[in-house]
Amino acid sequence: MRGVEIRLVSGALGAEVRGLDLASLDEGVVSTVRDLVHEHLVVFFLDQDLSVSAHQRLGESLGDIVANSYTPSVDPEHPGVTLHRSEDGYIANVWHSDGQPRPAPVKYTIFKMVTCPTRGGDTMWANQYLVYERLSPPMRELLDGLTALQRSGVNLAEQSPHPAVLVHPETGRKLLYVSRFHTVRFLEMSVGESRALIDYLVALAAEPEYVCRYRWSPGVVGIWDNLATQHYGVNDFDEPRVFHRVMIQGPTLPANAGRWPALDDDAPRTMITKDGSAGVVGEFSSDLWSRAD
Ligand SMILES: [Fe+2]
Repeated sequence: MRGVEIRLVSGALGAEVRGLDLASLDEGVVSTVRDLVHEHLVVFFLDQDLSVSAHQRLGESLGDIVANSYTPSVDPEHPGVTLHRSEDGYIANVWHSDGQPRPAPVKYTIFKMVTCPTRGGDTMWANQYLVYERLSPPMRELLDGLTALQRSGVNLAEQSPHPAVLVHPETGRKLLYVSRFHTVRFLEMSVGESRALIDYLVALAAEPEYVCRYRWSPGVVGIWDNLATQHYGVNDFDEPRVFHRVMIQGPTLPANAGRWPALDDDAPRTMITKDGSAGVVGEFSSDLWSRAD
C-alpha cells in the first residue's frame, strides 16, 4: 500500500508501521492489515487516534469479536472492548497465548496503549513458527503426533486438548502450540515425560532468537497473530499502565493429533491441591492465576 513505511523490530518477528490510519477503514486497509499481521506476526501501528468505537469497528472488520468474561468492558456501549489496568492486576508476566484453553481460541488480539509507564512495561512475543521449524526432524516428528492439554489458569474448568503442532488456519504453516501458562501435559505421554518436554519447549521459545520486545508509547495500536505467537507482559514498572483490548474469534481447532491413543495417567488428578496452591505440571499457583487468561 502506498505511503506505508515498515521498520522491523527484530530478526524473529514484529514490525512497526507508519502511514496507515486504522480509523479510516476500507477494504484495502483491512486486507493490508491482515497481510502485515500474517507476515510479521505482531504489528505496531504508530500515530493512531483510535476511539473506542473505531477500535470496535477495526475488530469487526477482522472477524467476530470475542466476549471476554474475565475482564470489564470499557463502557456498556462497547462490550467487546475491554479495559486492562495494571492497578487491577492485569500484567500477564507469564508466557501465554490468549484463549488457548478454549476449543476455538483467539485469532488476533488488538491492543491499544492508553497510558504508559515512563519506564518499563514492555511486551515480548515469540515466533512459534520459528520455534517449530528449528527443532530437529525427530523432535518435530514426535511433536506432530502429540495432543497438548491446555488449561486456563483463571478458570480451571476451562480446558481443551489441541494438537501440539498446529497447522495455522490462514497461512497453512506449522507452529508449536505450547505455552508455559496453559500447557498442562501431552495426552499420549506420562505426566513426567510431559513435564520434561514442556519445560524444554517453553524455555526454548523464550530464547532471544525467537523473540521481539516492544517498548509501548501512547497512540500505538498493536495487532498480533495470537495463534502463531505467545506473549509476555514484562512486570518491571510501578506507574499506571492502561490498555484497551479487542480479541477476534478464531476457528475451532482439532481436538487430537490422532496418531496414538491417550495414555491413562492418574497423576493429573492430583494436579491442583485442595487449597488451589500447587500443581504437578507447569507453574500453576493462585498467584499466577490472576495474571493472564
Ligand atoms: Fe494475553
